[in-house]
Amino acid sequence: MMDFDRRKEQPIGVFDSGVGGISVLQELLKVMPGENYIYLGDSKNAPYGTKPLETVRQLTFENVRVLLDQGAKGLVVACNTATSAAVRLMRGMYPDLPIVGIEPALKPAALQKEHPRVLVMATPMTVQQEKFRQLMARYEDKAEIYPLACPGLMEFIEAGDLESERLRDFLRELLGPYLDKGLDSVVLGCTHYPFARKMIRSIVGDAVTIFDGGEGTAREMRRRLAAADLLNPSEEAGWVRFENSVATEAELALCQRLLKQEI
Ligand code: DGL
Repeated sequence: MMDFDRRKEQPIGVFDSGVGGISVLQELLKVMPGENYIYLGDSKNAPYGTKPLETVRQLTFENVRVLLDQGAKGLVVACNTATSAAVRLMRGMYPDLPIVGIEPALKPAALQKEHPRVLVMATPMTVQQEKFRQLMARYEDKAEIYPLACPGLMEFIEAGDLESERLRDFLRELLGPYLDKGLDSVVLGCTHYPFARKMIRSIVGDAVTIFDGGEGTAREMRRRLAAADLLNPSEEAGWVRFENSVATEAELALCQRLLKQEI
C-alpha cells in the first residue's frame, strides 16, 4: 500500500528532441500542477525530424530509458516526430507504463467548420510517416489539408530565437505560397512551433485559427494516470527538473526561460 502511494509521487517523464516539448510541459503544469516532472531534451542530437527513421527510434529509446531509470511513473513523448517514429514500439516494450504521445491537432482544425482549409506545419519526418498519412486520410473529405514540412524552423527555437527579423523572413518565405489560399487554420504539428506562434500569427493574420496538440496531450496524460490510479494526490505545487544532453548552464537557462514564455 505504502509502496503504491510512493509511486504516485514519482515524476512524470517528458521527452523531446530538444526544448520544444516545454510547450507541452506548460500545458501539463496547468492540467496537473501537483505532479512532479523530469523534462529531458536531447538538444545535442536535434533536430530529429530530418534524421533517418531508425536513428530517431534508437535515440528515443535511449532517452526514454534514462527517464525510466530515474523512476518516471509515466511518459509524455512531447515530440510529434519521436511519437510518429517510436511510440507504437514503445507501448510494446513497456505495456504497463502510461505512455502518451503527441500528434498534429488536425481533428479540431478539420472539424472547425464546413470544409475548412488547413495548413499543417511539421517536421519532414512527421509528414512522411504512415501515422500522419492515416491521420490525413481520416479528414481528407472534411477539409482541404496542406501538409508543410518545415526543415530549419525548430533550429530557431533551439537557439532561443523567437522573434528576430531572420525568423520573420524565414517564416514569410515558408508560408508565403499559402497566404492566398484562404486558410482557415494552421496546425502547429511540432512542439517547437508554439514558441513561434506570435510570429506565425502576425504573418497569417488574425482570421486564421492556430491549433496545437499540447493541451489535448496533457489531458490525455491525466486520463491515463487516473485510469492507472497513479495521480499524485498532493495539493501542493510539484517540482520540475530539466535535463538536457547539452548540459550547459546556458541550455538549462533557456529551458527555464521557455517554461515562462507566453505561448
Ligand atoms: N519537437 C519536435 C516535434 O514535435 C521535433 C523537432 C525535431 O527534432 O526535428 O516534432
